[in-house]
Amino acid sequence: MDTRVVAASADAVRAAGELLARGELVAFPTETVYGLGGDARNGRAVAAIFAAKGRPSFNPLIVHVAEPGAAEDFAVFDARARALVERFWPGPLTLVLPRRENGGLSDLVSAGLPTVAVRLPAHPVARAVIAASGCPVAAPSANPSGRVSPTRAEHVRDGLDGRVAMIVDGGACAVGVESTVLDLTGATSRVLRPGGVTAEEISALLGEPVPLTEVADGPLLSPGLLASHYAPDRPVRLNAAAAADGEALLGFGAAAGAARNLSPAGDLAEAAANLFAMLRELDVPPYRGIAVSPIPEHGLGVAINDRLRRAAAPR
Ligand code: TXA
Ligand code: MG
Repeated sequence: MDTRVVAASADAVRAAGELLARGELVAFPTETVYGLGGDARNGRAVAAIFAAKGRPSFNPLIVHVAEPGAAEDFAVFDARARALVERFWPGPLTLVLPRRENGGLSDLVSAGLPTVAVRLPAHPVARAVIAASGCPVAAPSANPSGRVSPTRAEHVRDGLDGRVAMIVDGGACAVGVESTVLDLTGATSRVLRPGGVTAEEISALLGEPVPLTEVADGPLLSPGLLASHYAPDRPVRLNAAAAADGEALLGFGAAAGAARNLSPAGDLAEAAANLFAMLRELDVPPYRGIAVSPIPEHGLGVAINDRLRRAAAPR
C-alpha cells in the first residue's frame, strides 16, 4: 500500500473521511498524539488497526467522536460522566463507560469487554476528519506497538509507512502525551492511565479522590500498563544528574550539558509537548543511551514520569 502524506486542508479532510467510511485506515493529528483511525463499527477496519500496529489484540481501543451526542449511541453516561464531559470535552480525557448493547460498535474495538473508552479530541483536524467520516473512529496512537508515540506526521510515516492509506499532516501535537484514561464503570472513579488532564483537576471537579490504579493483569491489561512501552531503541536512565559516557542528556529546567531540554523554564506542559519528539531525536548515533533529568511528580509530570518509567523499563 502507498501511504499518502497530505497537509491538512478541506480537501484532505474530505478524502480522509471517505477513506475511513470505506474501511481504510487514516492517521490524523489530535492535541495529544497522532491517532491511527479506523471505523469503530467495522470489525475488519478494527482488525487492520491491530495488524498495522502489531498490537496484542487483547488491548481495547479508544473510540473517538466529533460531538458528545454521538457517544450516547454506544456508551452509557451517568451524572459524573456528564459533568466531566461538560468541563473537559473536547480535550485529552478518555472516559471508560458501560457499553450500550446494540450500539453498533465492533466487539473487537473493546476487546470483548462490556465497557468502552470514548474521547472527543480538541484538535480541529481530528474533529473534522471524524465528522467527515460519519463514523465513530477507533484510534490508538499511530506507532508500532511498544514504541514511542508520534507527535508529528513524519513520526507516523517512520513507523507505519505502507501500513496506512493516508496521513493527514496537522503539524506538531500541542499536549504531547496521551489522554488521561478514567474508569467510571465502578462506584469510585479511577485513573487507568495518567495523561493530558491531571488527576488533581478531575478530583477537584468530582469532589472526591481519584486514585491511579494500575491493573496488573487480566483482560483490562492496557498498552499503557505493559512494563516496557514507549520505548526508544537506546536504553533510558531516569533521574540523572548528568550524562554518563556515551549518553545524551535529556534535560529539564536548569540542566547543564543537555543535548535537548524538555523545558529550560521548567514548564511541565512544554515538557510534555516535547517529550516524544526529543526521545526520538536522541535515539540516534553516536549516543548509546539516553539519560533524563528528574521531572517533578505533580500535574502533567505524573503522565511524563509514567511514560519515562515505561521507556526505561527492562525489555
Ligand atoms: O491521546 C490518546 O488517547 C490517543 C489519541 C490518538 O487519541 N489514543 C491512545 O490510544 O492513546 P491507545 O489505544 O494507545 O490507548 C488506549 C488506552 C489503553 O491504555 C487502553 O487499555 C485503554 O485506553 N482502554 C481502552 N478501552 C478500555 C476499556 N474498555 N477499559 C479499560 N481501558 C481501556
Ligand atoms: Mg499508544
